[in-house]
This record gives sequence, C-alpha cells and structure tokens, in this order.
Amino acid sequence: MANAIPVIAIDGPSASGKGTVAQLVATELGFHYLDSGALYRIVALATQQKNIAWDNASEVSAYAKDLHIQFTGDQVYLNNADVSDAIRSEQMGKGASEVAVHASLRAVLLNLQHSFRQAPGLVADGRDMGSVVFPDAPLKIFLTASTEVRAQRRYQQLLGKNQIANYADILLDLQQRDARDQGRAAAPLIMPTDALLLETDNLTISAAVSFILEKYWHKMQK
Ligand code: DC
Repeated sequence: MANAIPVIAIDGPSASGKGTVAQLVATELGFHYLDSGALYRIVALATQQKNIAWDNASEVSAYAKDLHIQFTGDQVYLNNADVSDAIRSEQMGKGASEVAVHASLRAVLLNLQHSFRQAPGLVADGRDMGSVVFPDAPLKIFLTASTEVRAQRRYQQLLGKNQIANYADILLDLQQRDARDQGRAAAPLIMPTDALLLETDNLTISAAVSFILEKYWHKMQK
C-alpha cells in the first residue's frame, strides 16, 4: 500500500538555495524537514575525527552504522555533541560529497531518512530524494541555478559571515562537486522524469517557495 504521508522531494546541486526554500515550504505547511545533506556531512566529520579515510567505503559505512544522530530545531547533534557549525564548513561539504559516492553508506542512511516521514508530511532536500529515497513522493522538484549564480551566492554568503572567500576557488569547487555528485554510480544527482524543474537564476526565494506551494496544492486537489 502506498504511504499516505505526503513528501515533497526537493533535489538539486550544491548552493542552489534548495535548503532555504525547502525549510520555508516545510514551515508554511507545518511539515517536518529532512536535510539529507547534513547526514553525509556528519559522516564526513565523524570519520575524519576517527582518522578513517573518506574513500574507504567499508570502514566509512561500518562506522556510520554506530553514529547517534539527532536533529533538534536548527541544531544537529553527533553522539550528543552539537556539530551544527562544524558540518557547514567547505571542507565538510567536500567530504560529504566524497563519502556520498559509497553505495554501502547510502544503504546505511536509507532507514534513517525514511524515519523522517511522519504526519502531517515531510519536505526532504538532497540529491536523490525523488529518485531513490522517496520515489512515491507526490511532488518532486528539481531546483537548480547556473554554476556562476550558485558560486556568486555562496561567495556572498561567506562574505556575510566575515569569512575569507575567493570566487574563483568557490566556482572550481562547485564544478568539481557537481561532477562528483552527477557522475557517481550510486544514486547520482539526476532530475527524475516526474519532477518539475525550478530554475532560480532570476527567481527570488519567496517566488520559489510560492511556486512549490502552488504546485503542491494543485496536486493535492486532484
Ligand atoms: O546539500 P549539501 O551541500 O549539504 O550536500 C553535501 C554533499 O552530500 C553533496 O555534495 C552530495 C551529498 N549528498 C548526497 O549524495 N545525497 C543527498 N541526498 C544529499 C547530499
């Protein structure tokens, strides 16, 4: 029987703004929110702390099974330690993209992701929410923007946090991360055929949120 709890799957590349959009959609609907990228970031951080190489599939996956991960509001806890800021670094973004290539790790994280599907509904953001994790989601969005616009947004974001930022480095890093996320064999970043494309180069955050809410209400009325 199909799962009656609705999921809005929002997938897309790094720095597309999908996290911000997904959280606002979840708040508007009173839905739960899954930031699946945070799970891969936590695994990158935890394995680094344990001196496990990110390319060691079996050790990374085995260690991930024992991690105690909790989300409380905006905070993320790893084995009861608050890692909310630590997982947001550029280095953990890169590490997340490296550990995410392992099919065995993705299998370990699958049940945990499914457990977020709770009433009244879930907004799930990531790379494979619509294609692999919640293939029966009634609404699938592929949210993207050009590499240059995404790099510019990330650059401004880092400057806003008073961090040293170099536009050329950010652009190169995004290109490499896109190539890894799209080129891997396990659950690559793809746009499912039943997803709606949302290009945000010339779209404000509130316009993107409104687009998704409108599509969701439309689907639910059918
Ligand atoms: O969304 P993010 O930037 O926090 O994700 C970090 C990395 O995690 C991303 O480069 C690829 C990986 N990821 C994934 O493989 N599958 C997901 N559902 C979410 C993230």
